[in-house]
Amino acid sequence: MYLKPNVAILSLNIPMNVPSMSPFLFVTDLDNTLVGDDKALAELNQHLAKHREKYNSKIVYATGRSLYLYRLLAEAKALLPPDALITSVGTEMYFDQNQEQFDLEWAQILSQGWNREEIVAIASQFDELQSQPNSEQNPFKISYYLAEVVAKKTITKLKSALSERGYGVKLIYSAGQDLDLLPKNGDKGLAVQFLRQKWNITAEKTIVCGDSGNDISMFQGQEKSLIVGNAKPELLQWYKVNKNDTLYLAQSTCAGGILEGLKYFSLL
Ligand code: GLC
Ligand code: MG
Repeated sequence: MYLKPNVAILSLNIPMNVPSMSPFLFVTDLDNTLVGDDKALAELNQHLAKHREKYNSKIVYATGRSLYLYRLLAEAKALLPPDALITSVGTEMYFDQNQEQFDLEWAQILSQGWNREEIVAIASQFDELQSQPNSEQNPFKISYYLAEVVAKKTITKLKSALSERGYGVKLIYSAGQDLDLLPKNGDKGLAVQFLRQKWNITAEKTIVCGDSGNDISMFQGQEKSLIVGNAKPELLQWYKVNKNDTLYLAQSTCAGGILEGLKYFSLL
């Protein structure tokens, strides 16, 4: 039987801001994204905690910090316990923030094509690179300080020195000072993909939030992507040439920007 479409229903004007009543995956960077405005953080936490309780949404932190520095921050700020923790720019993953051992399945993926000692030896030929503290080095992350004035030139040279020796290492520059050398299979974005597959959550039901260079890898898929209003120049520059429908630059800063984005994407 042919049913005549009900034009009145089809043209119903559904308001844009209907909050999601199904679970979503919330992934956020910490420094200057989730953390930076305590009042907005408290408000955001309330919404997120409620959504997690009611709809089983998941909360994930994806930070550049090591587990050690994450714990220091968690002592100082009111952070909700995450369902998973991605630390060290995506090179370690934990499903329990109180655990000491990172996830070995993820580590196995990172180890492909990576040779830490040889990569350190190549990088040590560059005097401009200053090693970060030991706590910020790990089996799959080598981190330096690099001054902004020489960054572009040094990164280009180091990249070609590494690829001449057959290493497809990722070089990630953040906040005009930090240079991370990561395995080709590892960064925050790839860590989020790993979790989405593990938990069977679509890109559409995922929101990723960040403020600086090491967050760019999270913004390259179909996930809803939120840049806070206080984003660093390297990310704003990337945004200018990569604008698209799933990418939103908030006006508000830090957790206030996240709240703005969650509403924009009709998740809250
Ligand atoms: C955090 C880490 C540091 C890294 C930076 C940028 O500050 O502690 O090692 O270089 O994030 O990713
Ligand atoms: Mg940050």
